[in-house]
Amino acid sequence: MAPRSANINVMAQAARKAARHLVRDFGEVEHLQVSVKGPGDFVSAADRRAEQVLRQELAKARPSFDLLLEESGAIGDGTADHRWIVDPLDGTTNFLHAVPHFAISIGLERQGELVAGVIYDPIKDELFAAEKGAGAYVNERRLRVSRRSDLVTCLIATGIPVLDWPGRAKGFARQLERVADEVAGIRRLGTASLDLAYVAAGRFDGFWEYDLKPWDMAAGIVLIQEAGGMVGRLEDGELLSPGTLVAGNQGIYPQLALLLRAAP
Ligand code: IPD
Ligand code: CA
Ligand code: CA
Repeated sequence: MAPRSANINVMAQAARKAARHLVRDFGEVEHLQVSVKGPGDFVSAADRRAEQVLRQELAKARPSFDLLLEESGAIGDGTADHRWIVDPLDGTTNFLHAVPHFAISIGLERQGELVAGVIYDPIKDELFAAEKGAGAYVNERRLRVSRRSDLVTCLIATGIPVLDWPGRAKGFARQLERVADEVAGIRRLGTASLDLAYVAAGRFDGFWEYDLKPWDMAAGIVLIQEAGGMVGRLEDGELLSPGTLVAGNQGIYPQLALLLRAAP
């Protein structure tokens, strides 16, 4: 059975409610693609609408919890035991271009420790959920990371830096070259939360990305840990702090981290 704690229910319900708005707006984007003005402003409004719904639902169900929302920032005085960490629309560029691969991501911290996560992909109707000690699930199915241990058979996901200082793009190019030499394939699907959920589901064997934000990672980290995988960072520091997030199954994680470290 999928974990059905009260908190997971709150997260799943909030995600499904906000997703109904996103799906409606996504249908509209397909029309706006061909209009002169394009869907840009409309998508920003859709993002804010989804965040509004999530904020209302989560605050209504758990009035004492703090929130960290991508668009609105930190809500609360920072003294609560619990904090929601929310990305109302992860995969905005996909959404803007009518590519049906985006998600809502909600993580939960208790006393600074990540304890639960829900990632909902409304187009595929896949609800990924995990809670510390209770396992990771997609809909009703239990998740395990993949068992592949040979890099040459592995599918690895990443994020490509764009519109950024050249040093970083060069660093990424070196990492990409290094990893691409060793693996079966590399994917850049454009929704970091789903990349992490797919590692938890054993679809991807590993993942790395520089400069993700807490709302991109929080829920996915719990999913991977509960699916028996490993999540860490290339640099020193807390999991959610700025740096490079690396994830994978137990066999692939150290090999991937080693390759990335060898490509500074
Ligand atoms: C982005 C996506 C993307 C990742 C970027 C994120 P957004 O989030 O997760 O996969 O590569 O770093 O900023 O802007 O679509 O919420
Ligand atoms: Ca995001
Ligand atoms: Ca976002």
